[in-house]
Amino acid sequence: MKKLYAMFLLLGLLFSTSSSWADRALVERGHYIFDAAGCGSCHAGVKPLAGGRPIETPFGTFYSPNITPDKKYGIGAWSEEDFVRALRHGRKPNNQHLFPAFPYTSFTGMTRADMAALYAYLMTQPAYPVKNRPHDLRPLFRSRAMVGQWKIANFRQGSFKPDRSKSKEWNRGAYLANALGHCGECHTPRGVFGGMNRSRLMAGNRKGPGDIPVPNITPDKNTGTGLWKLHDLFNFFDRGVKPDGSSVSGRMAEVLGSSSMRLTAADKRAIAVYLKSLLPIRNDVSTEYNPFTGSGH
Ligand code: HEC
Ligand code: HEC
Repeated sequence: MKKLYAMFLLLGLLFSTSSSWADRALVERGHYIFDAAGCGSCHAGVKPLAGGRPIETPFGTFYSPNITPDKKYGIGAWSEEDFVRALRHGRKPNNQHLFPAFPYTSFTGMTRADMAALYAYLMTQPAYPVKNRPHDLRPLFRSRAMVGQWKIANFRQGSFKPDRSKSKEWNRGAYLANALGHCGECHTPRGVFGGMNRSRLMAGNRKGPGDIPVPNITPDKNTGTGLWKLHDLFNFFDRGVKPDGSSVSGRMAEVLGSSSMRLTAADKRAIAVYLKSLLPIRNDVSTEYNPFTGSGH
């Protein structure tokens, strides 16, 4: 009897440690997705992930919300399904539309498994009872219902679809750059209503966040990164230095430090391979802004 009891105890112990290993692996994977997607920078605040960081846009100033697991002020009462709906469809648990200042326009491409890992990671973070600060938007742009209209023209929801004619590495790079790293949110020109002009993907934005020009990163030799070799791009994501030895400042320095530089070497290389494969688009972001294409000339 005693022996049987000891055996049960042992089995129980084995079972519980193997399931907590699985949990730990999921959380670790979620941490990696969190870095690759750069969730931490916008949701920074007085306390990590408790939000409050201002995000200036032509429509007004958004203040990032609290995404800690606090049940009252954060997302601690959200189910995994609620979380998936926010990233995939840009909706709150009560079905209201979220503003695209939260780049779900890119995150919609994340796989379900990556979203689940990200959720598991966020739920292990410290909860802070910090109240959300209301956005300060221009009168015409305050309505969440209007975002529904905007989405019809500017939002295509759905998980990233691999292109089977391309290599595994290319597909990984495309996924990292578009669904996670949301590079296009800054590097793609936007039209009058603020939607990304996807036919000019990564061709640079004359008026990026804070009205600062964001460079063209398609391989155009004159106006883009056409003169950068594959290893130049890799070195940039790895150490933050450009081929001419200079470094970047501002938002891209933040992207590098909190996201790109934390990726594995294979993932940095995959992004470089993907960028090299893009169609070269001529667009000089230092020239005058055209509100209809969001491009320079
Ligand atoms: C460019 C800045 C930015 C980045 C990057 C960003 N967010 Fe947000 N996020 C926001 C803003 C702004 C809102 C508020 C949108 C609104 O009120 O409709 C928001 C809203 C949210 C919400 C809804 C919270 C609520 O209470 O309604 C969740 C969940 C969320 N973000 C999670 C994430 C995760 C996870 C990531 C990384 C994959 C991420 N965010 C990356 C800016 C950002
Ligand atoms: C929040 C906005 C933002 C995001 C997101 C962003 N970038 Fe940038 N990026 C910038 C800005 C601004 C610069 C110019 C910085 C400078 O020159 O000081 C830049 C510069 C660059 C450069 C150097 C180009 C040159 O000609 O000097 C490369 C390459 C680049 N980004 C790639 C990426 C990739 C890949 C991603 C996604 C993983 C990404 N960026 C995400 C804003 C952004």
